[in-house]
Amino acid sequence: MARTELGRLSGRTAIVTGGAKGIGRHYSEALAAEGAGVVIADISGGEEAAAEIAGKYGANATMSVTCDVSREDQVKAVMDRAVERFGKIDILVNNAALFAPLQHTKVQDIDVDLWDKVFAVNVRGSFLTVKHAVPHMMAKRYGKIINIGSGTVYKGLPGMLHYTASKGAIATFTRTLSRELGEHGICVNTLAPGLVMSETLVASGTHDEALKARVVGSRAFKRDQLPQDLLGALVFLASADSDFVTGQTIAVDGGSINT
Ligand SMILES: NC(=O)c1ccc[n+]([C@@H]2O[C@H](COP(=O)([O-])OP(=O)(O)OC[C@H]3O[C@@H](n4cnc5c(N)ncnc54)[C@H](O)[C@@H]3O)[C@@H](O)[C@H]2O)c1
Repeated sequence: MARTELGRLSGRTAIVTGGAKGIGRHYSEALAAEGAGVVIADISGGEEAAAEIAGKYGANATMSVTCDVSREDQVKAVMDRAVERFGKIDILVNNAALFAPLQHTKVQDIDVDLWDKVFAVNVRGSFLTVKHAVPHMMAKRYGKIINIGSGTVYKGLPGMLHYTASKGAIATFTRTLSRELGEHGICVNTLAPGLVMSETLVASGTHDEALKARVVGSRAFKRDQLPQDLLGALVFLASADSDFVTGQTIAVDGGSINT
Protein backbone atom coordinates (compact mmCIF):
# COMPACT_ATOMS: atom_id res chain seq x y z
CA MET A 1 0.00 0.00 0.00
CA ALA A 2 1.46 3.37 -0.97
CA ARG A 3 0.52 6.50 1.03
CA THR A 4 -0.83 8.98 -1.46
CA GLU A 5 -0.56 12.76 -1.18
CA LEU A 6 -4.26 13.03 -1.83
CA GLY A 7 -5.37 10.05 0.21
CA ARG A 8 -9.04 9.93 1.13
CA LEU A 9 -8.10 10.56 4.77
CA SER A 10 -5.40 13.21 4.34
CA GLY A 11 -5.39 15.58 7.31
CA ARG A 12 -7.60 13.29 9.39
CA THR A 13 -6.68 11.79 12.76
CA ALA A 14 -7.82 8.26 13.59
CA ILE A 15 -7.75 6.30 16.82
CA VAL A 16 -7.69 2.51 16.39
CA THR A 17 -8.24 0.57 19.61
CA GLY A 18 -6.67 -2.87 19.54
CA GLY A 19 -4.70 -1.59 16.57
CA ALA A 20 -1.46 -3.37 17.44
CA LYS A 21 -2.31 -6.92 16.42
CA GLY A 22 -4.75 -9.04 14.48
CA ILE A 23 -7.24 -7.28 12.23
CA GLY A 24 -6.68 -3.97 14.04
CA ARG A 25 -3.13 -3.83 12.79
CA HIS A 26 -4.41 -4.01 9.22
CA TYR A 27 -6.94 -1.24 9.99
CA SER A 28 -4.15 0.97 11.37
CA GLU A 29 -2.06 0.54 8.26
CA ALA A 30 -4.98 1.03 5.84
CA LEU A 31 -5.94 4.34 7.49
CA ALA A 32 -2.32 5.52 7.44
CA ALA A 33 -2.03 4.55 3.77
CA GLU A 34 -5.00 6.85 3.02
CA GLY A 35 -3.20 9.74 4.70
CA ALA A 36 -4.59 9.71 8.25
CA GLY A 37 -2.48 10.21 11.36
CA VAL A 38 -3.17 6.99 13.26
CA VAL A 39 -3.09 6.54 17.02
CA ILE A 40 -2.80 2.88 17.97
CA ALA A 41 -4.33 2.34 21.41
CA ASP A 42 -3.76 -1.21 22.57
CA ILE A 43 -3.22 -3.02 25.85
CA SER A 44 -0.27 -4.77 24.24
CA GLY A 45 1.49 -1.50 23.40
CA GLY A 46 1.71 -1.25 19.64
CA GLU A 47 5.24 0.14 19.34
CA GLU A 48 6.18 -2.48 16.76
CA ALA A 49 3.11 -1.82 14.60
CA ALA A 50 3.66 1.94 14.87
CA ALA A 51 7.33 1.59 13.90
CA GLU A 52 6.41 -0.49 10.86
CA ILE A 53 3.78 2.03 9.73
CA ALA A 54 6.15 4.96 10.36
CA GLY A 55 8.79 3.13 8.30
CA LYS A 56 6.40 2.93 5.35
CA TYR A 57 4.46 6.19 5.62
CA GLY A 58 6.68 8.52 7.64
CA ALA A 59 7.08 9.47 11.30
CA ASN A 60 3.99 11.69 11.16
CA ALA A 61 1.76 8.79 10.16
CA THR A 62 1.35 7.19 13.55
CA MET A 63 1.95 6.89 17.27
CA SER A 64 1.08 4.21 19.83
CA VAL A 65 -0.26 4.50 23.35
CA THR A 66 -0.56 1.59 25.76
CA CYS A 67 -4.15 1.53 26.90
CA ASP A 68 -6.64 -0.80 28.54
CA VAL A 69 -9.91 0.39 27.02
CA SER A 70 -11.86 -0.76 30.06
CA ARG A 71 -10.04 1.87 32.19
CA GLU A 72 -11.45 5.40 31.95
CA ASP A 73 -8.24 7.15 33.01
CA GLN A 74 -6.25 5.34 30.32
CA VAL A 75 -8.84 6.03 27.61
CA LYS A 76 -8.91 9.72 28.46
CA ALA A 77 -5.11 9.79 28.33
CA VAL A 78 -5.21 8.36 24.78
CA MET A 79 -7.54 11.13 23.61
CA ASP A 80 -5.37 13.78 25.31
CA ARG A 81 -2.21 12.38 23.71
CA ALA A 82 -3.90 12.19 20.28
CA VAL A 83 -5.03 15.82 20.44
CA GLU A 84 -1.63 16.92 21.74
CA ARG A 85 0.09 15.23 18.79
CA PHE A 86 -2.41 15.67 15.92
CA GLY A 87 -4.62 18.55 17.12
CA LYS A 88 -7.99 16.76 16.81
CA ILE A 89 -9.82 13.45 16.55
CA ASP A 90 -11.85 12.71 13.41
CA ILE A 91 -12.13 8.92 13.29
CA LEU A 92 -12.58 6.37 16.07
CA VAL A 93 -12.38 2.66 15.31
CA ASN A 94 -13.64 0.64 18.27
CA ASN A 95 -11.87 -2.60 17.42
CA ALA A 96 -10.35 -3.73 20.75
CA ALA A 97 -12.18 -6.73 22.10
CA LEU A 98 -11.66 -9.99 23.88
CA PHE A 99 -12.15 -12.46 21.07
CA ALA A 100 -9.23 -14.53 19.81
CA PRO A 101 -8.13 -15.64 23.32
CA LEU A 102 -11.66 -16.78 24.35
CA GLN A 103 -12.21 -20.53 24.53
CA HIS A 104 -15.54 -21.99 23.45
CA THR A 105 -17.40 -22.60 26.74
CA LYS A 106 -20.95 -23.77 27.43
CA VAL A 107 -23.21 -21.28 29.23
CA GLN A 108 -23.29 -23.31 32.44
CA ASP A 109 -19.49 -23.23 32.59
CA ILE A 110 -18.83 -19.55 31.83
CA ASP A 111 -17.08 -17.97 34.79
CA VAL A 112 -18.84 -14.82 36.04
CA ASP A 113 -15.57 -12.88 36.25
CA LEU A 114 -14.80 -13.75 32.62
CA TRP A 115 -18.33 -12.67 31.58
CA ASP A 116 -17.76 -9.31 33.31
CA LYS A 117 -14.32 -8.94 31.75
CA VAL A 118 -15.64 -9.56 28.23
CA PHE A 119 -18.29 -6.88 28.75
CA ALA A 120 -15.78 -4.51 30.38
CA VAL A 121 -13.51 -4.62 27.35
CA ASN A 122 -15.99 -5.12 24.50
CA VAL A 123 -18.82 -2.87 25.68
CA ARG A 124 -17.58 -0.53 28.43
CA GLY A 125 -14.40 0.01 26.40
CA SER A 126 -16.36 1.27 23.40
CA PHE A 127 -18.51 3.48 25.63
CA LEU A 128 -15.42 5.03 27.24
CA THR A 129 -13.68 5.78 23.96
CA VAL A 130 -16.82 7.41 22.58
CA LYS A 131 -17.38 9.34 25.81
CA HIS A 132 -13.90 10.87 25.61
CA ALA A 133 -13.60 11.24 21.82
CA VAL A 134 -16.93 12.90 21.02
CA PRO A 135 -16.24 16.24 22.73
CA HIS A 136 -13.31 16.64 20.31
CA MET A 137 -15.48 15.63 17.34
CA MET A 138 -18.32 17.95 18.43
CA ALA A 139 -15.85 20.84 18.58
CA LYS A 140 -15.21 20.35 14.83
CA ARG A 141 -18.78 19.30 14.01
CA TYR A 142 -17.34 16.21 12.29
CA GLY A 143 -16.65 12.64 13.24
CA LYS A 144 -16.68 9.03 12.12
CA ILE A 145 -17.22 6.33 14.71
CA ILE A 146 -16.82 2.78 13.45
CA ASN A 147 -17.78 0.10 15.94
CA ILE A 148 -16.53 -3.36 15.09
CA GLY A 149 -19.40 -5.80 15.46
CA SER A 150 -19.73 -9.39 14.36
CA GLY A 151 -21.85 -11.54 12.08
CA THR A 152 -22.45 -13.77 15.13
CA VAL A 153 -24.99 -11.16 16.34
CA TYR A 154 -27.30 -12.40 13.57
CA LYS A 155 -26.50 -16.12 13.67
CA GLY A 156 -25.40 -16.79 17.24
CA LEU A 157 -22.34 -18.94 17.98
CA PRO A 158 -22.75 -21.76 20.49
CA GLY A 159 -20.03 -21.72 23.14
CA MET A 160 -19.41 -17.98 22.76
CA LEU A 161 -22.40 -16.49 24.60
CA HIS A 162 -20.31 -13.89 26.45
CA TYR A 163 -18.78 -12.69 23.21
CA THR A 164 -21.89 -12.70 21.01
CA ALA A 165 -23.96 -10.96 23.71
CA SER A 166 -21.30 -8.24 23.97
CA LYS A 167 -21.37 -7.72 20.20
CA GLY A 168 -25.17 -7.61 20.31
CA ALA A 169 -24.80 -4.68 22.71
CA ILE A 170 -22.54 -2.99 20.15
CA ALA A 171 -25.28 -3.18 17.50
CA THR A 172 -27.67 -1.24 19.75
CA PHE A 173 -24.88 1.08 20.84
CA THR A 174 -24.41 2.13 17.20
CA ARG A 175 -28.11 2.72 16.58
CA THR A 176 -28.66 4.91 19.63
CA LEU A 177 -25.42 6.83 19.21
CA SER A 178 -26.15 7.58 15.56
CA ARG A 179 -29.40 9.29 16.55
CA GLU A 180 -27.82 11.11 19.48
CA LEU A 181 -24.78 12.38 17.58
CA GLY A 182 -26.28 13.17 14.18
CA GLU A 183 -26.91 16.78 15.09
CA HIS A 184 -23.16 17.16 15.70
CA GLY A 185 -22.21 15.89 12.23
CA ILE A 186 -20.92 12.58 13.59
CA CYS A 187 -21.56 9.32 11.70
CA VAL A 188 -21.76 6.13 13.74
CA ASN A 189 -21.77 2.75 12.00
CA THR A 190 -20.99 -0.88 12.70
CA LEU A 191 -18.61 -2.87 10.54
CA ALA A 192 -19.44 -6.55 11.05
CA PRO A 193 -16.81 -9.04 9.94
CA GLY A 194 -17.47 -12.73 9.43
CA LEU A 195 -15.00 -15.32 10.69
CA VAL A 196 -11.67 -13.74 9.75
CA MET A 197 -8.42 -15.63 9.59
CA SER A 198 -6.57 -12.93 11.54
CA GLU A 199 -3.07 -13.78 12.66
CA THR A 200 -4.22 -13.84 16.29
CA LEU A 201 -7.19 -16.10 15.61
CA VAL A 202 -5.07 -18.56 13.65
CA ALA A 203 -2.41 -18.55 16.39
CA SER A 204 -5.01 -19.08 19.15
CA GLY A 205 -6.32 -22.28 17.55
CA THR A 206 -9.73 -21.50 19.13
CA HIS A 207 -11.78 -22.18 16.02
CA ASP A 208 -11.58 -25.68 14.65
CA GLU A 209 -11.72 -26.78 11.03
CA ALA A 210 -15.33 -28.01 11.36
CA LEU A 211 -16.54 -24.55 12.42
CA LYS A 212 -14.50 -22.88 9.68
CA ALA A 213 -15.94 -25.23 7.04
CA ARG A 214 -19.48 -24.55 8.27
CA VAL A 215 -18.95 -20.78 8.10
CA VAL A 216 -17.33 -20.89 4.66
CA GLY A 217 -20.19 -23.10 3.45
CA SER A 218 -22.72 -20.47 4.60
CA ARG A 219 -21.18 -17.79 2.38
CA ALA A 220 -22.06 -16.75 -1.15
CA PHE A 221 -18.30 -16.58 -1.76
CA LYS A 222 -16.98 -19.90 -0.48
CA ARG A 223 -13.51 -19.04 0.70
CA ASP A 224 -11.67 -17.95 3.84
CA GLN A 225 -12.04 -14.31 4.88
CA LEU A 226 -8.81 -12.37 5.41
CA PRO A 227 -8.26 -9.06 7.24
CA GLN A 228 -7.64 -7.39 3.86
CA ASP A 229 -11.24 -8.10 2.86
CA LEU A 230 -12.42 -5.55 5.45
CA LEU A 231 -10.24 -2.62 4.47
CA GLY A 232 -12.36 -1.18 1.64
CA ALA A 233 -15.44 -0.94 3.86
CA LEU A 234 -13.38 0.45 6.73
CA VAL A 235 -11.94 3.26 4.61
CA PHE A 236 -15.39 3.97 3.13
CA LEU A 237 -16.87 4.37 6.63
CA ALA A 238 -13.92 6.52 7.73
CA SER A 239 -14.02 8.81 4.70
CA ALA A 240 -16.27 11.56 3.34
CA ASP A 241 -17.68 8.98 0.91
CA SER A 242 -20.00 7.86 3.72
CA ASP A 243 -21.01 11.28 5.09
CA PHE A 244 -24.74 10.50 4.75
CA VAL A 245 -24.47 6.94 6.09
CA THR A 246 -25.16 6.49 9.79
CA GLY A 247 -26.71 3.99 12.17
CA GLN A 248 -25.98 1.12 9.76
CA THR A 249 -24.36 -2.27 9.98
CA ILE A 250 -22.17 -3.13 7.03
CA ALA A 251 -21.47 -6.83 7.03
CA VAL A 252 -18.31 -7.89 5.23
CA ASP A 253 -18.44 -11.66 5.30
CA GLY A 254 -18.70 -13.00 1.77
CA GLY A 255 -22.49 -12.95 1.93
CA SER A 256 -23.09 -15.19 4.94
CA ILE A 257 -25.62 -12.88 6.58
CA ASN A 258 -27.88 -10.34 4.91
CA THR A 259 -28.36 -7.14 6.92
N1 LIG B 1 -11.33 -12.62 13.77
C1 LIG B 1 -12.63 -12.79 13.58
O1 LIG B 1 -13.06 -13.83 13.07
C2 LIG B 1 -13.61 -11.73 13.94
C3 LIG B 1 -14.93 -11.87 13.51
C4 LIG B 1 -15.87 -10.88 13.83
C5 LIG B 1 -15.46 -9.81 14.58
N2 LIG B 1 -14.18 -9.69 15.01
C6 LIG B 1 -13.84 -8.53 15.79
O2 LIG B 1 -12.75 -7.86 15.19
C7 LIG B 1 -11.94 -7.26 16.19
C8 LIG B 1 -10.51 -7.74 16.08
O3 LIG B 1 -10.49 -9.14 16.11
P1 LIG B 1 -9.14 -9.98 16.03
O4 LIG B 1 -9.45 -11.29 15.43
O5 LIG B 1 -8.06 -9.17 15.43
O6 LIG B 1 -8.95 -10.23 17.59
P2 LIG B 1 -7.72 -10.08 18.53
O7 LIG B 1 -8.10 -10.70 19.79
O8 LIG B 1 -6.53 -10.58 17.85
O9 LIG B 1 -7.51 -8.51 18.62
C9 LIG B 1 -7.91 -7.74 19.60
C10 LIG B 1 -6.92 -6.60 19.80
O10 LIG B 1 -7.40 -5.88 20.92
C11 LIG B 1 -6.36 -5.74 21.88
N3 LIG B 1 -6.98 -5.72 23.21
C12 LIG B 1 -7.48 -6.76 23.91
N4 LIG B 1 -7.94 -6.31 25.10
C13 LIG B 1 -7.73 -4.98 25.14
C14 LIG B 1 -7.98 -3.96 26.09
N5 LIG B 1 -8.53 -4.24 27.28
N6 LIG B 1 -7.64 -2.69 25.79
C15 LIG B 1 -7.04 -2.39 24.60
N7 LIG B 1 -6.76 -3.31 23.67
C16 LIG B 1 -7.11 -4.59 23.92
C17 LIG B 1 -5.45 -6.94 21.66
O11 LIG B 1 -4.15 -6.68 22.17
C18 LIG B 1 -5.50 -7.06 20.15
O12 LIG B 1 -4.55 -6.21 19.54
C19 LIG B 1 -12.61 -7.60 17.52
O13 LIG B 1 -13.50 -6.57 17.87
C20 LIG B 1 -13.37 -8.86 17.19
O14 LIG B 1 -14.44 -9.06 18.06
C21 LIG B 1 -13.25 -10.63 14.71
